[in-house]
Amino acid sequence: MPTQNKADIKSTISTLKSELQATNDEPIGIFDSGVGGLSIAQCINQQLPNENLLYVADTLHAPYGEKSAEFIQQRVNEIAQWFIKRKAKAIVVACNTATVNAIDQLRKNISIPVIGVEPAIKPAANLSKNKKVAILVTKATAENQRFLALVTQYSNNSEVIIQPCPGLVELIEQDMKNSPECKLMLTTYLMPLLEKGVDTIVLGCTHYPLVKNLIGEICGDSVMVMETAQPVTEQLQRQLALHKLVNLSNNLGTTTFYSSKYSPTQRALFTHIWQGPLILNSYP
Ligand code: DGL
Repeated sequence: MPTQNKADIKSTISTLKSELQATNDEPIGIFDSGVGGLSIAQCINQQLPNENLLYVADTLHAPYGEKSAEFIQQRVNEIAQWFIKRKAKAIVVACNTATVNAIDQLRKNISIPVIGVEPAIKPAANLSKNKKVAILVTKATAENQRFLALVTQYSNNSEVIIQPCPGLVELIEQDMKNSPECKLMLTTYLMPLLEKGVDTIVLGCTHYPLVKNLIGEICGDSVMVMETAQPVTEQLQRQLALHKLVNLSNNLGTTTFYSSKYSPTQRALFTHIWQGPLILNSYP
């Protein structure tokens, strides 16, 4: 056993004591361009109920899918700094478009764990019987090199069709996900895929799980629809454990919501999607 002097022993004991006392109740920052990331936040809230969550919807700048990589990176950095000022212990980029365009540079610039959204291409390619998979994404994701490399890497021996869905995020943000306009738009995007024999659809934008029922209605039961909230939550759980950041308190955590374009209509949309009462604050 190595010999330790009195000062070393004292400092070891004080480190151990503070580790025992730390409850790690600092919040986890979660953000998206709008309400899409709520599908991820909901899963995290259900499975890690002790954690405190801060959710930011950058609605003033939505849709990210129509913006440049530089603009998205600027927004992501600003929101990440805002979380850090609020002592966030980890950040979840609950947005595919922001993940592929900005997560690598974000990870280089900050020291807390950053969890992104990776579309389920690999499991979809393995599960597809026809070996025909489609991935629904925003325009900015469809054009991104990191995303295209991911598709090539994980497509296995399946054909992966990339389907951009411009306009869909805007309809969801306007609470028009059950409207005839939304059904028509989705039908226009999905029909050609079905005609090509696609039997597995990957949702490559966190807004799209909010229209999963409609996608199911159009495609029928024989088409499998895959989303990513569960794997993201599991990855967050692993990262918190690895960095000794799991909230050890026995209290139920809180979720605080922010929007960069607050309005009573948006608050109603949040409440509807979250399926419970909430307070929506103005960001910043
Ligand atoms: N929810 C987003 C995503 O996952 C962003 C969509 C957008 O703002 O265009 O890609």
